[in-house]
Amino acid sequence: MPFRDLYAIPDAPERWQVPQDFTTVFNWDFAPERSRLLNLYERGKAMQWDANQRIDWSLELDPEDPQQLPPEALPINDAPFFQRMSRAEQSEIRRHHQAFNVSQFLQGEQGALLCAAKIVQQVPDFDSKFYAATQVMDEARHVEVYKKLIGKFGIAYPMTAPLRELLDQVLRDSRWDMTYLGMQVVIEGLALAAFARIRDQAQNPLAAAVNAYVMEDEARHVAFGRLALRDYYPHLTEAERAEREEFLVEACYLMRDRFDAIELWSALSLPVKECLAFLHESGSLAAFRQRLFTRIVPTVKDIGLWGEMVRKGFGTMGVLDFAATDLDALARDDEAVARRFDERRAYVDHIVRAAQV
Ligand SMILES: [Fe+2]
Ligand SMILES: [Fe+2]
Repeated sequence: MPFRDLYAIPDAPERWQVPQDFTTVFNWDFAPERSRLLNLYERGKAMQWDANQRIDWSLELDPEDPQQLPPEALPINDAPFFQRMSRAEQSEIRRHHQAFNVSQFLQGEQGALLCAAKIVQQVPDFDSKFYAATQVMDEARHVEVYKKLIGKFGIAYPMTAPLRELLDQVLRDSRWDMTYLGMQVVIEGLALAAFARIRDQAQNPLAAAVNAYVMEDEARHVAFGRLALRDYYPHLTEAERAEREEFLVEACYLMRDRFDAIELWSALSLPVKECLAFLHESGSLAAFRQRLFTRIVPTVKDIGLWGEMVRKGFGTMGVLDFAATDLDALARDDEAVARRFDERRAYVDHIVRAAQV
């Protein structure tokens, strides 16, 4: 079936074209400048993987609860109107809600692919061009795996309006660091927290493995943004940094709001007002949104965009305490978890082979 036929919202446009106006920079020096970035490039090369080999695509999703998540993963689970529905109706909504979220991962990954390609062209120094080139390949692989996973759901959703708005801004901006700030810091930071929920909570082995392996790569991408920006931002004027901080706070609000999932509730013909009222009054959305900022806040502090505007913005969102998170420890943990998934797969394959003999 053509992918477009999976869209639950009819008449999704076939393409989205974003006109761009930026300068492509050749660097005749070819000189590597920063050893930490070069190390990251070496790791990016060494840690490439083939999604066909590493993931067992013969595994299926669960028909009633595709990723086998705890009931509260559906934010309207405790709403009275949801509780009154039949079991079949409930599992249909659960399936759509999960497909909606994984679709946003897929749509965001295409955005990341194009942003990484833009960075290759625009960024002046060669070690960043080298590293961004490995990220381009990583993001292509992420599009590949989430597309396959969505195929197993048999339902897809288009990119939400807030994600589109942010990507549009980031792709059109002629300053190379804004691409990093919007993509590597905000979008990928949020995505990491969202992937982690599935990786750690899904009982479905396919869904958990896909997110564990994508996270192993994403941890490097966030590190790339940190390394590139924290060398660059101290050289900007106060006014230039203030402009970045303003963009950052707006981008965080924009992304936070996409978790209302209004498009989903209306596609399912659910009472949208009732859904939103429940999400806000029950506090389930607020708790979920806060957790999403675990990775962004410490990164922002690390790159030195820690002026009053940003601290105030994060304070209002109630996420300021995440500034103390140890990002390097989280990244090491993400890699260790991915290795444990490899070990489990090797163990299962071993048992299956032994049984066949
Ligand atoms: Fe990605
Ligand atoms: Fe990424």
